[in-house]
Amino acid sequence: MEHIKKILINEDDIKNRINEAAKEVSEKYAGKPLLLVSILNGAFIFMADFCRAVTIPCEISFMCAKSYYAGTQSSGEVTITKDITQDISGYHVIIIEDIIDTGRTLAAIVEQLRKRNPLSLEVITLLDKPSRRVVDFNADKALFTIPDYFVVGYGLDCGEKYRNLPYIAEYSAE
Ligand code: IMP
Ligand code: MG
Repeated sequence: MEHIKKILINEDDIKNRINEAAKEVSEKYAGKPLLLVSILNGAFIFMADFCRAVTIPCEISFMCAKSYYAGTQSSGEVTITKDITQDISGYHVIIIEDIIDTGRTLAAIVEQLRKRNPLSLEVITLLDKPSRRVVDFNADKALFTIPDYFVVGYGLDCGEKYRNLPYIAEYSAE
């Protein structure tokens, strides 16, 4: 496919890591009120697969944040364009994110959610690009750590395209 340089993480590897992480979550939060909050649009496929691998009761909610405005460049500004509406003070909350790049998006979202006093708050990200960090932020769990590549597929886009690829691939402008 045009602009798809190579497949970095295939469908089986994604599935296996999700199953492992979901098993840990199911054990850790058994018998507790659990709310999974995913950040749209990028994390929609990860959330769909992750929540179906969780074997305990949980609730699901979505937020929308914008940090990328054009192509592969971060704007540096984070706006929450859709917020969750429920009171989270009675829940253990896990944020389900697609990728941590500069860290700005999650730093802003975590700051917002902490103010609402959840029973606990943790972050699980599918992908982590630690070499790109500009704010001091780390996930509690990253399923895959990747080099400084711009990646697409499995929910992640470039200019809103490629989200439907079933694998994670390196994007190339050429
Ligand atoms: P951060 O605020 O810089 O950590 O950026 C987080 C958001 O930027 C992610 O939720 C993605 O939507 C987007 N993003 C960062 N890196 C990539 C990438 O390699 N491919 C596609 N989207 C990315
Ligand atoms: Mg995102």
